[in-house]
Amino acid sequence: MIKIVHVSDTHVVAEPHRLYGLDPRERLSRTIADIRANHEDADLCVVTGDLAHWGEAEAYDAFAERWAAAGLPAVFLIGNHDDREVFQASVPGAMVDEDGFVQGARRIGDLTCLFLDTVTPGSHMGSLCERRRARLTRILAETSGDVAIFLHHPPLAVGVAPMDAIALVDADGLAAVLEPHRARIRHLFFGHLHRPISGTWRGWPFSGTRGVNHQLALDGHLRVDGRPASDDIVGSREPPGYAVALIDDRSTVVHFVDVLDDDARFSLVAEETVGRGYALDMGAE
Ligand SMILES: [Fe+2]
Repeated sequence: MIKIVHVSDTHVVAEPHRLYGLDPRERLSRTIADIRANHEDADLCVVTGDLAHWGEAEAYDAFAERWAAAGLPAVFLIGNHDDREVFQASVPGAMVDEDGFVQGARRIGDLTCLFLDTVTPGSHMGSLCERRRARLTRILAETSGDVAIFLHHPPLAVGVAPMDAIALVDADGLAAVLEPHRARIRHLFFGHLHRPISGTWRGWPFSGTRGVNHQLALDGHLRVDGRPASDDIVGSREPPGYAVALIDDRSTVVHFVDVLDDDARFSLVAEETVGRGYALDMGAE
């Protein structure tokens, strides 16, 4: 069984700044602490981009310090808020391929994890140019077995018009590269949306997870009745979260975890037994 922790959209800003009234550094620290407490057995943590909100070196320093202190195996992708060059210069171990993109691959057991750079400098829209697609084609040809793909931008419209306008524009190109390997593609993990979301794209399962700082509210969106959806990108301060994927040769299970939930834990079994006077054990008299 392989365990991958999926974190996204940390949007770290440098001291002493806050973002939308929130402290992304503190939220990242709490998120990492939660991962360490519960998933220190993870094979890998992947952060799918928008690591820093304004892309400045001090923000990447704050981001990298927290992950280094955690001692968790981690891979960082970039998103539309990131600056590729500043990220690569600031974060120790930052991925860089021969063309300068933040791309790479890592093998975990029989699973090949592929990390894509979908950033378009100067635009919030995602892209995967011919060079990036060529590299992906090459890696797929050189590897065998199951593949999990990580990228920042969703390659599909999700019903939130202003986000759909800045999704991956080269979705057809990505699909064309993946199609010859259809049976090998186990899952796509992406960020950008700041929401827990799952479904299929052209038959391949996908999931996305919350942001670590702010979230995307669905108010005014997901309309199918012809009424125009909102043009606004509506934010919310819902708790941050991350996802945990459990992958074996038969199944892929993705759990969504909310951080900052300080409710006292209790035993469902003990409370039920005390309250109703019967045991949960179906075999009990
Ligand atoms: Fe983001």
